[in-house]
Amino acid sequence: MSEQKLEVCILAAGMGTRMKSTIPKVLQVLAGKPLLSHLLASVQTLGPKKIHVVVGPESESLKTVFCDDGINWVTQTERRGTGHALMQALPDIADNSKVLILLGDAPLVSARLMKSLIEGDTPLSVLTVCLDDPTGYGRIVRSGSDRISQIVEDRDANEAQAEINEINTGVMVADVQSLREWLPQLKSDNAQNELLLTDLVSIASGADLYVRPVLTEDAVEVAGVNSFEQLAELERVLQRRYAHDLMNEGVHIVDPERFDLRGHLSCGRDVFIDVNNVFEGDVTLGDGVRIGANCRVINSVIEPGSVIKDHSHLEGCQVGPESQVGPFARLRPGTVLRESVAIGNFVEVKNSEIGKGTKASHLTYLGDASIGESVNIGAGTITCNYDGIDKHRTRIEDHVFVGSNTALVAPVVIGAGSIIGAGSTITKDVKEGVLALSRVKQKSVINWKRSEDEK
Ligand code: UD1
Ligand code: CA
Repeated sequence: MSEQKLEVCILAAGMGTRMKSTIPKVLQVLAGKPLLSHLLASVQTLGPKKIHVVVGPESESLKTVFCDDGINWVTQTERRGTGHALMQALPDIADNSKVLILLGDAPLVSARLMKSLIEGDTPLSVLTVCLDDPTGYGRIVRSGSDRISQIVEDRDANEAQAEINEINTGVMVADVQSLREWLPQLKSDNAQNELLLTDLVSIASGADLYVRPVLTEDAVEVAGVNSFEQLAELERVLQRRYAHDLMNEGVHIVDPERFDLRGHLSCGRDVFIDVNNVFEGDVTLGDGVRIGANCRVINSVIEPGSVIKDHSHLEGCQVGPESQVGPFARLRPGTVLRESVAIGNFVEVKNSEIGKGTKASHLTYLGDASIGESVNIGAGTITCNYDGIDKHRTRIEDHVFVGSNTALVAPVVIGAGSIIGAGSTITKDVKEGVLALSRVKQKSVINWKRSEDEK
């Protein structure tokens, strides 16, 4: 007999009625990723021959999100229960396959647990866990110490069965020949009036076959998500795990209960993270980086020794070493700060490169700009980069001093070492080393009186 190949079937056609949402449940987000992404990531490490996902008829959004994952989508037109869902995939599963069955709404089952089920050579294996409160779950009825005779759904359980705290996680492994034999025997004579996958257990054990329980200790890994409340609980547990892993690697996280990672965070030594930060996508924090409270950092690299102060928002940017950002700074995509740059409060930077030692300390917008070294950008400076149709660049060379409240109308070049007088609107290129000004001269009106009406 040729070797059995592994195929995976994920059941995800349920309505998610308890979430009262129009979004398919497996698209609900946990730690920044759809539930199904978490499960697929684990499944893919097993190298299965095929992954089948059973979905409802209104699942176009799902197919779009996961179009690159090589999934075989199976439609369950009528939702008639988990057993019925699996039946829909059967014709697509190759003969002589071992089938790993997963529920789309139990997203954190690890590859390690999946393997422990696949490894056994029994007709049917079921992953179980003991819960303090088993309400809502299918109860595991054992016969003897090491075999399962039945799974009773919560709504079908009698008083004694309801007391059982070992529950069905929904993860099962069986070979496809057995499934082809058992599934047509399912009946809907239960409280839900559905064809229940869990009834495979009594069918198999009724035929005197061994149904093997694999009991895990880790209730988090197998937790099902049926409501937003359960989703929030799982989110916190997962975040706590991420925070603890980072702390074990030497990151100083002030409060793991107020830490959120929605992607991947890689940290150097002596990184300090204050409370209420959100990290999204791929974020790298170099040695000694400090992140103040209430910041959001998305797909960015922050190089050693830099400090991001409270309430800053960074996306798609690179912060060079020994720089200072914030408080209340916004760095938008395409921002590159070289070394020892200072970006202060209420400063917005977009698609701009800022040279070593340059400072923009207050109330400024720098967009589509190339700024040299040791430049001082005064408070209230604005690069006017958009003329209503096109975007234009501003170039400010080394050692320029831009006075406060200056409007730089792009495209424009400010030559090295020049000074722009405060309050100027600069529309023409400025030569190196000059003082450029564009202001109405100040005048004093002698004998000026307020009009009578104003009083
Ligand atoms: C299911 C199990 C229960 C187990 C629990 C673990 C059954 C009958 N019950 O209950 O024993 O303790 O999971 O979390 O299997 N689905 C379909 N088509 C359908 C119905 C459901 O694809 O017609 C999918 C859902 O999208 C979901 C999964 O199957 O991802 C489980 O369905 P759900 O209704 O959430 O089952 P539970 O009541 O949680
Ligand atoms: Ca469920």
